[in-house]
Amino acid sequence: MEIINYHEPVLINETIDLLLANVNDSKAKVYIDGTLGGGSYTKRILELTENDVKILAVDRDINAIEHSGKVLQDFPGRVIFCNSNFADIAELIRKYPDIIAGQKVSGLVLDLGLSSYQLNYEEGFSYQRDTELDMRADKGIQGGLKAKDVLNTYPENDLLNIFKEYGELKYSRQITKDIIYYRGKKKFETTSDLVDVLKLKIPARYLNKDLSKVFQALRIEVNNELDNLKKVLNDTVDFLETGGRIAVVSYHSLEDRIVKNIFRSNEKLKVITKKPVIPGDEEVEKNVRARSAKLRAAEKI
Ligand SMILES: C[S@@+](CC[C@H](N)C(=O)[O-])C[C@H]1O[C@@H](n2cnc3c(N)ncnc32)[C@H](O)[C@@H]1O
Repeated sequence: MEIINYHEPVLINETIDLLLANVNDSKAKVYIDGTLGGGSYTKRILELTENDVKILAVDRDINAIEHSGKVLQDFPGRVIFCNSNFADIAELIRKYPDIIAGQKVSGLVLDLGLSSYQLNYEEGFSYQRDTELDMRADKGIQGGLKAKDVLNTYPENDLLNIFKEYGELKYSRQITKDIIYYRGKKKFETTSDLVDVLKLKIPARYLNKDLSKVFQALRIEVNNELDNLKKVLNDTVDFLETGGRIAVVSYHSLEDRIVKNIFRSNEKLKVITKKPVIPGDEEVEKNVRARSAKLRAAEKI
């Protein structure tokens, strides 16, 4: 796989600055990048820290691991690559006692959602390409339903909840009814099967925006994204050293709410960002993905 523009990172300076604020006091000397993607965050951490700082670099997409292996080849021995779900953080930490001594970590960074590579080349994520409606970000290592299975088998009410809750869609009820009707005639297979049905009800002027919302809602369901986020945040706190930090960049209001609530309610954490940090106009102009990004950070006390 030879991809130059695998992913343009969002809020990289702000995120890594917040993550590394206490690096000089860290005894653990291990950071976890739970969403390795194109490897830019990990690379920046490596560049800004001494050689004794190591990174556990996690991504459930094998393409991200393979790509970043090349991007990070100038840092031999400093990166431990894990093709895993970040929700399994506790098991991962326990798996490396020689690296994560005393099972304490200096910090965790998460940059949620999809990489541009996934959106542009993997099956099912984009409404702009006609591919199989898959959307599993881990290529099925944990089994799981594809997006087409969700559409073809979920009861009407469950589908409605996905579109209403995860998609925050105005036409959730109509869209769900159309999907139920269509699947009675022919099962969903491809992204264009879904787009064709959605076009029936969504007015042309809202189409692109609402197609993105429907696809995002299905992706959240297929990949169990909200539960994974709650689990990694709750489980990581016990492994952080005092002064260790968690920094999270999210792109969906439900994700941001989860981060905000867990940071505020966990008594072992102090919130560093009273308000979320958002990208400046210049970054948004250069990178449309940055538009909805929100960064929050907290510190173990
Ligand atoms: C926005 S990209 C990260 C980009 C990265 N910060 C960079 O600098 O290139 C998100 C990545 O997180 C991964 N990801 C999302 N949810 C995950 C999960 N639960 N476990 C592991 N990786 C996950 C995706 O596969 C994707 O590669």
